Amino acid sequence: MPSDCITVSRATRGLHGTIIIPGDKSISHRVALLGAMAEGRMNVRNYLCSEDCLNTLRAMQQLGARVIPGAEPENFTLCGTGMRPTAPRQDIDCGNSGTGMRLMAGMLAAMPFRSRMYGDSSLCSRPMGRIMAPLSAMGARIRSCGQKPGCAPLEIEGTDLHSIEYTLPMASAQVKSAILLAGMLLEGRTIVHQPAITRDHTERLFGHFGIPCEVSADGLSISVQGKAHPVAKDITIPGDISSAAFWLVAASIVPGSEVCLRNVGLNPTRDAIIHVLRRMGAHIAISLTSDAGEPYGDITIRAAEQLHGTTIEAHEIPNLIDEIPVLSVAAAYASGTTSIRNAAELRVKESDRIATTAGNLRAMGAQVQEYPDGMEITGGAPLHGATMDSYGDHRIAMGFLMAGLNADGETTLLNCRNINTSYPGFAEHLRVLTGY
Ligand code: S3P
Repeated sequence: MPSDCITVSRATRGLHGTIIIPGDKSISHRVALLGAMAEGRMNVRNYLCSEDCLNTLRAMQQLGARVIPGAEPENFTLCGTGMRPTAPRQDIDCGNSGTGMRLMAGMLAAMPFRSRMYGDSSLCSRPMGRIMAPLSAMGARIRSCGQKPGCAPLEIEGTDLHSIEYTLPMASAQVKSAILLAGMLLEGRTIVHQPAITRDHTERLFGHFGIPCEVSADGLSISVQGKAHPVAKDITIPGDISSAAFWLVAASIVPGSEVCLRNVGLNPTRDAIIHVLRRMGAHIAISLTSDAGEPYGDITIRAAEQLHGTTIEAHEIPNLIDEIPVLSVAAAYASGTTSIRNAAELRVKESDRIATTAGNLRAMGAQVQEYPDGMEITGGAPLHGATMDSYGDHRIAMGFLMAGLNADGETTLLNCRNINTSYPGFAEHLRVLTGY
């Protein structure tokens, strides 16, 4: 077996214990970007030291931000450039991260220098036209020079941009944020309308850094006032609910489990996984620790007697887009049918997550009907272990390891190295909770 595969088998005694969930990926990227632009220095606590977020932090160092290491890698002081970034000496490596590349593109487009961003083969096959279109409408000079049309690497000739009012063709926090980050750098007010509410970390962090930003009462329109002057301010990043989701599902499906997850981000634009699992019969108790900036708290999960299938509503999809692979695993163990539609965005994630999730569920014996925009899973029958590819997709790897914790026989996931893009320490948490 290659060294980057992980094998699990049924957790016969259930999952038990308490773990601290590592920092939120979306928030970590944004703290690096905004902290690098800000005036002054800030203490950052609980930054996600995953490959994706470290790539973004390194990119900001290339633009002149300074990082003073703290006692632990996730705690450091970030010294901003006060809106005076320097040209990067080398091409910027975004690794596997669509968020890093798309958000950075918004900022780099408005800077007085040339830059070039590249990534791994997964990232170089993901659509960048969705950010190039609005940024070009703002006057950006941005060129895709990948083998696939409209894909990375991206070459950006920074220039003065002008504000726009833009309606997103898809519900995407990344595209929204790319436009807003460009918008804070130019003259005038930039307005984005979104078809559904997407994660609002950029807007909340604008508030944290003192960047003037308004959100309409229905949450669908966001505006930012340009030529902003972000000011550095200490921040503690909550744990990533998308990482917590693996244990929420595993502890729900494996009989006898009781697990406590500490410091989990509970932003209402990210917590649909909790509502959906509760609707399916999960036992999830929350104790809120802080409600300022980004809310977070501790979550306790006990095994469910029996999960039941459910229909995921269209408006819930953007709120749990990253949790769908592991939610599908819960659905395969639930009685009845779970319907996940209006989720065509899954086809352009780190892998085609409709195809990879459906394929792996079938490999374990589950019944799945695939649609262009989602799938229907009829669950309740026992699953059996299998050897499956993760397709280089961290969430497929972790999601199907969770499935293996309640399956007959052994489950092996190949190509798990990408777990480090979002969840360093995952293997250790798996060991702690299962006792393997
Ligand atoms: C993210 C937004 C989501 C999500 C991704 C992180 C972000 O993508 O899938 O993992 O940090 O803005 P889209 O907004 O493109 O759907």
